[in-house]
Amino acid sequence: MSMEKRIATGISGLDRVIEGGVRDNTTLLVVGSSGTGKSTFAMQYLNYGLENGENALYISMEEPPEQIMREAKMLGFDLDEYYEKELFFFHSKGKDFVKLVDEQLPALVEANKNYSVKTRVVIDPLTPLLWAVQDKQEQREIITKLFYTLKQLGPVLITTEEHASPGETVGEDVLIPIYMSDGAVHLTYRPIGGAFNRALEIIKMRATRHGEEVYPYIFVRGIGVVVRTTPLISAEDVRKYDDVFDKAIRTAADLGAGEKVLNRLVYVKDNWSYPFSPKETLQIFFESQGFNDTMTKEDIARKKEALSSEPPKTESEGCQDTVFSEEEALSDEAGSSEQDEDALIDIENLSELEELVR
Ligand SMILES: Nc1ncnc2c1ncn2[C@@H]1O[C@H](COP(=O)(O)OP(=O)(O)O)[C@@H](O)[C@H]1O
Ligand SMILES: [Mg+2]
Repeated sequence: MSMEKRIATGISGLDRVIEGGVRDNTTLLVVGSSGTGKSTFAMQYLNYGLENGENALYISMEEPPEQIMREAKMLGFDLDEYYEKELFFFHSKGKDFVKLVDEQLPALVEANKNYSVKTRVVIDPLTPLLWAVQDKQEQREIITKLFYTLKQLGPVLITTEEHASPGETVGEDVLIPIYMSDGAVHLTYRPIGGAFNRALEIIKMRATRHGEEVYPYIFVRGIGVVVRTTPLISAEDVRKYDDVFDKAIRTAADLGAGEKVLNRLVYVKDNWSYPFSPKETLQIFFESQGFNDTMTKEDIARKKEALSSEPPKTESEGCQDTVFSEEEALSDEAGSSEQDEDALIDIENLSELEELVR
């Protein structure tokens, strides 16, 4: 798991499938058609920051602040106490975007430079800007500049209205904002009745191991949105597959893998967060690295020899020393008999093979 500090979005259920929250100074795009709950998301995100001592900047390109505050109240968020103390609005009407992006926001960032309180930023929605700037190249440039500027204040949440045509996964009109964002979630609403007609999917989340399911969400007055997720993997399960990895690392070393490959395997072990065994993944990886059960003694010798012409510590013994920790030795003992059957490439068979080749 990544060690970087995460910032909770405050959107119930979302944080636990994105490693605890968003990264600071990144953009998160919320895409969905009208009525899917984008504004509710934005308000919940803002409110969470305000309640936790942050400042907030709300950029609206349509509605005036008074109306936004009124709507927030209807959703159960009373922002009056923060208004113009911790919560600030930028209301950019008509075609003022260029001025907003080129002058006002950079000036604000500059003025904020030595200010230690974090500012959560919301743009709800970005859509009028996309409509005002039709040229794709121009759109890309203005969004780049806008995102770049706002990210300096803190984590940014942007909503965008989607108009997907039948058969489209995501509307073509939102592809540029998705492309430019560090993260993107997609909200869909199928008015078919029942509790599961609204769903959230994570389209992307840079540098994050994120949930990949379709998550139903509901509106709860007083909370906002509650996304019905299950945590990615429980803390005690995280180390469940260490034995499988250790076995694989030993096998790789025996097959003549170099330090780089072995270190990479250790890295994969430390970062594995799927609720299923890495065995198949490792098998596929091994094959891609040229390790398989048809390897002959000569193949192995050739591999080792090729490596030994490189800098020191490339012999399998040396590799094992660098890769294996005491921890590993313990876990090896604990789960050995069962894991032996799980061996990727049976070492016994290999020595038989060696005999044959001889
Ligand atoms: N407490 C609630 N119960 C049921 N539905 C709600 C509730 N709050 C909001 N909604 C639904 O959310 C919709 C609007 O959400 P909103 O966040 O404004 O969406 P968007 O910004 O994507 O257009 C409303 O039309 C309504 O259907
Ligand atoms: Mg809205």
